[in-house]
Amino acid sequence: MSIYGDYIKSVIRTVPDWPQPGVNFRDITPLLQNSAAFRKLIDSFVHRYQEMRLDTIAAIDARGFIIGAPLAYELNCSFVPVRKKGKLPFKTLSETYKLEYGESAVELHADAFERGARILVVDDLVATGGTMLAAAKLIRRSGGEVVETATIIDLPELGGSQKIRDDGYDLFAVCS
Ligand code: PRP
Ligand code: ADE
Repeated sequence: MSIYGDYIKSVIRTVPDWPQPGVNFRDITPLLQNSAAFRKLIDSFVHRYQEMRLDTIAAIDARGFIIGAPLAYELNCSFVPVRKKGKLPFKTLSETYKLEYGESAVELHADAFERGARILVVDDLVATGGTMLAAAKLIRRSGGEVVETATIIDLPELGGSQKIRDDGYDLFAVCS
């Protein structure tokens, strides 16, 4: 939990039964629309990472980009998009992961960072952890050092954060 965790949680909306029955969708748009809240969100990440000598922020398509770009700017880091399959134009590496039904993949440009680069992987939410874990594995496989993974919202009841930690990655969540 971060310095502003309770406040950030209070400005995230839960939409029941969307996009399908039984899902409580965590909607971050009220947080983004509130300039004071958005600033506190980015400040929470800056506060945690400003002394960690990061080289690169790797952000996950698409909601991860919203926090990854301002964070890279504030921390003087490079920004690397981890994209859904088929979106990157140059030579790519990819990592597949399981969804509730079927499979998906995330991709990274082969020249996205130098070997040994100190990287933070960011996304808006961890549910089953499949997306974050695939991105972290892909970065490690590409020669990057995953210093930590970070998210705005962790849904621990879905087991993702435990899975990420069991695989040896640290996870920071602003709220859960
Ligand atoms: C959402 C969210 C995470 C992922 C979390 O992305 O932004 O990336 O799901 O789920 P998991 O922990 O079970 O993998 P989504 O695929 O909906 O894409 P979007 O960011 O483009 O909306
Ligand atoms: N991605 C996966 N599960 C989600 C949820 N409950 N809310 C928002 N995004 C999600």
